[in-house]
Amino acid sequence: MLILGIDTSCDDTGVGVVELTDAGQVRVRANRVWSQAIHATYGGVMPELASREHVERIDAVLEDALNEAGVRVADLGAVAATNGPGLMGALLVGLSYGKGLAQGLSVPFYAAHHLEGHIYAAASEADLRAPYLALVVSGGHTHLFDVPREGAYVLVGATRDDAAGEAFDKVARLCGLGYPGGPAISAAAERGNPDAVPLKEPLQGQSGFEFSFSGLKTAALLATQRGVNPEDLAASFERTVVRSLVKTTVRAAEHHGRRTVVVSGGVAANRALRAAFAATGLNVVFPGKGLNTDNGAMIALAGAAAIRAGRAPSDLSAGATAYAPLANA
Ligand SMILES: Nc1ncnc2c1ncn2[C@@H]1O[C@H](COP(=O)(O)OP(=O)(O)OP(=O)(O)O)[C@@H](O)[C@H]1O
Ligand SMILES: [Mg+2]
Repeated sequence: MLILGIDTSCDDTGVGVVELTDAGQVRVRANRVWSQAIHATYGGVMPELASREHVERIDAVLEDALNEAGVRVADLGAVAATNGPGLMGALLVGLSYGKGLAQGLSVPFYAAHHLEGHIYAAASEADLRAPYLALVVSGGHTHLFDVPREGAYVLVGATRDDAAGEAFDKVARLCGLGYPGGPAISAAAERGNPDAVPLKEPLQGQSGFEFSFSGLKTAALLATQRGVNPEDLAASFERTVVRSLVKTTVRAAEHHGRRTVVVSGGVAANRALRAAFAATGLNVVFPGKGLNTDNGAMIALAGAAAIRAGRAPSDLSAGATAYAPLANA
């Protein structure tokens, strides 16, 4: 069965196609993302402009995805689209489009949670089956979930303030490295000395599983005011964030008795983070290339998981939700 996935939750118009075999194996056949450049001039996402651009682009992105997969729209067996969380206007574009497509084709429709999509992006790399622990580390989230069984999400810990990706973006701006900050910091860090700028690891000694990155941001600001080398600051900052993410996740995995850990979301593309997780000895699964940041294939993978688990299709009358916690257990 071919499943179409659509994500228009923020400023990326994403459409993907995933194949689900009778044996329950999944394969990404296409993943096309139109990243909106229009927001760069404003230094942040302008919601109404994002919605308009989704409307203008979605037909073309769908066509590209179908071409990449080598299929026609009539070959689709199900459609999945993100219904939250995200920017309301932006969400509604992809959600309405997906519902219309499903109804027109007389195939089932699955509404998908954006974070569930980020987690299932890892299903492109491994046969992902609960139980496992999932760290979603993106531009808007740093959330640790225990997944004791398929579709059940227990919140284990989250950031008290900034998301890790947000901190990367802000520190990159302080260092004059541009946007998005994650890849820019990562590249600069390779040329810097991580010992040059001493930064305190957040929430050291805590017994819980929380994160905090706003203090690091302030420390980075003070360091730039002292005139430190931006590459040294990037290296120190990246190492401190990576250590915090890995240590807390490893402790949570031990606490919950999980051997498999999914690390997903935009920051999961970070090479230093991947290397540090690989060294933990846990079975760490990352999304495949192009599946870390927002995309449609991850939503198709979440749809495939729902179908595989025998979940009923979504009601076409269900709307979008701007604020939607994933925790349900
Ligand atoms: N190599 C990298 N290292 C660190 N951070 C990265 C890297 N690549 C991307 N990022 C960060 O990932 C974030 C974008 O990820 P993503 O698209 O998953 O987030 P989002 O969709 O904006 O947030 P959310 O899904 O929480 O609503 C940005 O903050 C970006 O700086
Ligand atoms: Mg996202």
